Amino acid sequence: MTDVPRLEDCVFYHSFDLPGHGRIEGIVDLTVDPDTYLGNVAFAGKRVLEIGPASGFLSFHMEQAGAEVVAVELPVDHPWDFVPVVGLDMDAVQAERVVVMERLRNSFWFAHAAMASAVTVHYGDAHALPDTLGRFDVSVLAAILEHARDPLGILNECARVTEQTLIITEVLEQTLGDLPIAKVVPTAENASWHTWWTFSPGFFRSYLPAIGFGDLTITTCERRNANEMQTFFTVVARRSSPPAAELVP
Ligand SMILES: C[S@@+](CC[C@H](N)C(=O)[O-])C[C@H]1O[C@@H](n2cnc3c(N)ncnc32)[C@H](O)[C@@H]1O
Repeated sequence: MTDVPRLEDCVFYHSFDLPGHGRIEGIVDLTVDPDTYLGNVAFAGKRVLEIGPASGFLSFHMEQAGAEVVAVELPVDHPWDFVPVVGLDMDAVQAERVVVMERLRNSFWFAHAAMASAVTVHYGDAHALPDTLGRFDVSVLAAILEHARDPLGILNECARVTEQTLIITEVLEQTLGDLPIAKVVPTAENASWHTWWTFSPGFFRSYLPAIGFGDLTITTCERRNANEMQTFFTVVARRSSPPAAELVP
């Protein structure tokens, strides 16, 4: 992007303390303790893939910690996996979303310029990562799988390009316990068109070893969403088996 967007053309998902601009309030404030949200992984010298950076706070944070970061974000006119909720005008939802996505993208590039960042962005769908992106030491999927109809499709795709570590952060719903469960969120009453799932930590503890990431730690943290605190859990899963292709002579 050559021209830096104007502040008034931005919607900030994340809060920032930006050089030259000061405090900018977003919907989500990760400024207090981003490291716990990211599972306290050391990023220095790592090549990192971040899926769904939104305004980019985590991308810039990992870059400042010494990582080379490549982010993958949906193109403005590419719909999320919306739930086809009965009674909602999905064309209207999508039209509104295009405007929000454009302003969200502006916020990323506004912060990118303020931070003199070198983070690069591929605009595409995380279900299909192009080989040109290369391979990564670490992949970060924070608050993204809950929004995907096919979360395991995205997870498998990230695992395919990740040499060392997957970091997955999701909302913790205590009532799910620790069976390997993904609870479907939409009901006729809540009309949730943007969120499909909440996962138990056990979901990842069960599945990730099956795809070669068997060395797991799971921690919890609090995240501020607007005026509400929400509990999240973070899975740090280290590769315990070589990528599948390497098993084939
Ligand atoms: C809830 S935000 C999470 C932002 C950030 N990762 C965090 O944890 O604060 C989800 C982001 O994922 C993006 N996203 C959703 N589905 C995606 C997909 N299939 N491929 C790439 N990005 C996606 C959205 O556009 C949005 O920027």
